[in-house]
Amino acid sequence: MKNILTLIILILIGLLIFIYSGIYNIAATKPHTKLVLWIMHTTMERSVKTHAKGINTPTLDESLVKTGFDHYSEMCEGCHGKPGLSPSEMKTGFYHEPPDLSKGIDEWSPAELFWIIKNGIKMSAMPAFGPTHKDEELWAIVAFLRRLPDLSPDEYKEMEKAAQGKPGEHGQSHEH
Ligand code: HEC
Repeated sequence: MKNILTLIILILIGLLIFIYSGIYNIAATKPHTKLVLWIMHTTMERSVKTHAKGINTPTLDESLVKTGFDHYSEMCEGCHGKPGLSPSEMKTGFYHEPPDLSKGIDEWSPAELFWIIKNGIKMSAMPAFGPTHKDEELWAIVAFLRRLPDLSPDEYKEMEKAAQGKPGEHGQSHEH
């Protein structure tokens, strides 16, 4: 028993020395080790799945997709890209690089997507949109995200044009 206690204290002291020494390279240009990546990703995945339990998903019909697109193109595209323009091509310098949401989001149910968008993800660049947006708006984004992987670059451009007014028109008729 005494030996175990001594061992635990030694490990804690070692950990403190490691933290205070500044030896760990926090630079975003230096990738995490596989172990750190596994810990971070698994913690994130398990946390989202646990916290999203019990959220009731409303009917996500087609009418929400357009509203969802408006929000996505304004608030998410700059980090997550769009069909034909992946985050890695945008070279934002983020680490973790935001995932390319146009490549599919099968890992997450609608309730889990809702939870992520509403609450954000700690220690990453993923912001929480809950404090600034109503639940209905967040569900519209979820509805759009589920359509996004099926959209071709041309279809996405059509939606951009439609959102700006009639095709060929450059007026800023963005309403909220
Ligand atoms: C400033 C950059 C930034 C903005 C803006 C942003 N995100 Fe993110 N997002 C990230 C990063 C970085 C991650 C990866 C987090 C991680 O894996 O730990 C992420 C993760 C996600 C995930 C989880 C994806 C996965 O497979 O792990 C979803 C879903 C998501 N974001 C949706 C959105 C939506 C929808 C918006 C707009 C309403 C948005 N994000 C805006 C940076 C951003």
